[in-house]
Amino acid sequence: MQSFLIATAISLVIVGLAGAQSSTVANSLDDYIDQNQRQYEAQIRKYEEALANFRTLFSKRQQVIDVQADLLQQKLEEAFVRINPLSLIDPWHKQCVQNYSSSIPTIATVRSRVASCQATISTALNSADSVYNTLKKYYNTNLKNSLADCVKKFPSAQLNYTVCVTKVIADANAYSISSQNSFNTHVKDADCTVDSRLRSAWTCSFGQVYSTSAAIENALRLIDNCIDNQLVCGSVSCSSGCPNVSTINLTEADFRNETIRNPFRGLSAQAGCREFRFK
Ligand SMILES: *[C@@H]1O[C@H](CO)[C@@H](O)[C@H](O)[C@H]1NC(C)=O
Ligand SMILES: *[C@@H]1O[C@H](CO)[C@@H](O)[C@H](O)[C@H]1NC(C)=O
Ligand SMILES: *[C@@H]1O[C@H](CO)[C@@H](O)[C@H](O)[C@H]1NC(C)=O
Ligand SMILES: *[C@@H]1O[C@H](CO)[C@@H](O)[C@H](O)[C@H]1NC(C)=O
Ligand SMILES: *[C@@H]1O[C@H](CO)[C@@H](O)[C@H](O)[C@H]1NC(C)=O
Repeated sequence: MQSFLIATAISLVIVGLAGAQSSTVANSLDDYIDQNQRQYEAQIRKYEEALANFRTLFSKRQQVIDVQADLLQQKLEEAFVRINPLSLIDPWHKQCVQNYSSSIPTIATVRSRVASCQATISTALNSADSVYNTLKKYYNTNLKNSLADCVKKFPSAQLNYTVCVTKVIADANAYSISSQNSFNTHVKDADCTVDSRLRSAWTCSFGQVYSTSAAIENALRLIDNCIDNQLVCGSVSCSSGCPNVSTINLTEADFRNETIRNPFRGLSAQAGCREFRFK
């Protein structure tokens, strides 16, 4: 029992000595290691900023589509402001509006169509994100472990420890450079991908702007024509469904005469229908 305690005490002293020595060896290169570590942290921050900027720029460019949706909503509102009061004038106007305004889409429909044009960033940054995560993990795990191993392997051999640490740092620097190259390549690729997605999104929303504007203009024209028809025809509807039409030229008529030229002259008594229009 006694000898066991003594043995334990001795081994504790040895471990203590080894610990003290190792910390002296390790501390000798603290400044050198810290300096490099600051550079590694800066590189990680650079990646984070690049990724965040990329995402911000993407949503900014995406906003063009929201602007187009707003523009279309405004166009639709203007059309409704013009059409809606017409319905209140009389049943004819109301009928014209009812018959020809249905081709104008609702604001909700247009907004959802334009929204469906939106591009997504989706997987575009996956590779760059993965390079960032791998580098972070390398610094936090591989590099830390390798530096700790140098202390463990050479707790008291200063020169060997220095060689070990400089080798680990040189490896880390080489790894950082290759990581940076790969990161740049992947960000450039993501830029291309997102560029073409944005271009098709813009084409899609421009298409919506065009087709919606055309639908509005067409409907307004049809409504105007329909309303004008009443003024021309002086009746509820110009089309009576009768294909046989005679025109009576009023400019020829002399309204002082008691007689006019017989408009039925030459027509068959069997004719099922005949429409007379005054000009
Ligand atoms: C409206 O449409 C109905 C059904 O198509 C048609 O019978 C009517 O003549 C139209 N009215 C006007 C004013 O165009
Ligand atoms: C330190 O390095 C020298 C030369 O490479 C080698 O001979 C020696 O064994 C090493 N010392 C330790 C403690 O590993
Ligand atoms: C109506 O008659 C006048 C006078 O004869 C003529 O100048 C005009 O062209 C005619 N209009 C139509 C639509 O036939
Ligand atoms: C008006 O009546 C007279 C005689 O009834 C006739 O000669 C003349 O042609 C008529 N004018 C027209 C424009 O129909
Ligand atoms: C139109 O007129 C022709 C000849 O006058 C006649 O044969 C035909 O039945 C008429 N059509 C209608 C729909 O009344």
